[in-house]
Amino acid sequence: WPFFAPYVKAINELKAARNAVILAHNYQTPEIYNCVADFVGDSLQLARQATKVDAEIIVQCGVHFMAETSKLLNPEKTVLIPDAEAGCSLAASITGADVRLLRERYPGVPVVAYVNTSAEVKAEVDICCTSSNAVQVVESLGSDRVMFLPDRYLARYVASQTTVSIIAWHGACEVHERFTGEELRAYRNADPSISIIAHPECPPDVIAEADFTGSTAHMIDWVRTRRPRRVVMVTECSMADNVAAETPGVEFVRPCNLCPHMKRITLPKILDSLLTLSEEVVVDPQVAERARRAVERMVNLKS
Ligand code: 13P
Ligand code: SF4
Repeated sequence: WPFFAPYVKAINELKAARNAVILAHNYQTPEIYNCVADFVGDSLQLARQATKVDAEIIVQCGVHFMAETSKLLNPEKTVLIPDAEAGCSLAASITGADVRLLRERYPGVPVVAYVNTSAEVKAEVDICCTSSNAVQVVESLGSDRVMFLPDRYLARYVASQTTVSIIAWHGACEVHERFTGEELRAYRNADPSISIIAHPECPPDVIAEADFTGSTAHMIDWVRTRRPRRVVMVTECSMADNVAAETPGVEFVRPCNLCPHMKRITLPKILDSLLTLSEEVVVDPQVAERARRAVERMVNLKS
């Protein structure tokens, strides 16, 4: 903490001086999540919050597609990301040209894109979704077949929750695909009363072992309300650190995996970003206009 304190003070002062807000994802480290963020949440909550920002500058503490989504919803504001290299294996798995080819192959089938995609991909699809509203979005289209991209595991999970037939892309999250059902069974065998909760980007054998599956915000709510004695949060490591701070008495049992992209965002880089107003997120206006439609269609869905 003594190391963090001068950064926290400088960031909070500069934020006020610059009329900036910090939107931070649930996977950000505790010093960012607790000490400098103005708003924390899952991807859907961050996108919704981005539509309500009054400040002139948004500093996105998360990965690039999240900053792009904020920019799409706030074309007139400055959106900064403290490290422009903070990518995502899902967003990197598909291009706009891939979506155009899929449309040729499956004419008339609507396309849903997980928000973990580039603006270029969002510009080619009908609607976006996040892990917290994917089933609702798929069913909102009124079609018996839907293309769902790019996460094959989230697609499998959605298919298990709906009668709509899902055509999936082959992307995967490099963090969640590393978990196995076998490692979770070992925890369950050692302590049958343990709770296991998983993100739907996990493979099906992992989800089969889980007592609950949901977005990062839904996982946090589950722990807040259920207060399990011992819980394995099958997701990125900072989640457990952040929730542990507000749920004394709950023991968070590892395993967890780090997202190297999320971990690129640090207090020194946030300070630098506010000082130099970089890296500014820029989206080609023509791409942005089409991509915005897909994001707004999702944000405007009644929950
Ligand atoms: P959430 O929308 O559940 O926060 O997930 C975002 C993400 O990148 C998970 O890996
Ligand atoms: Fe992308 Fe996975 Fe990292 Fe989330 S955890 S940002 S899906 S690589």
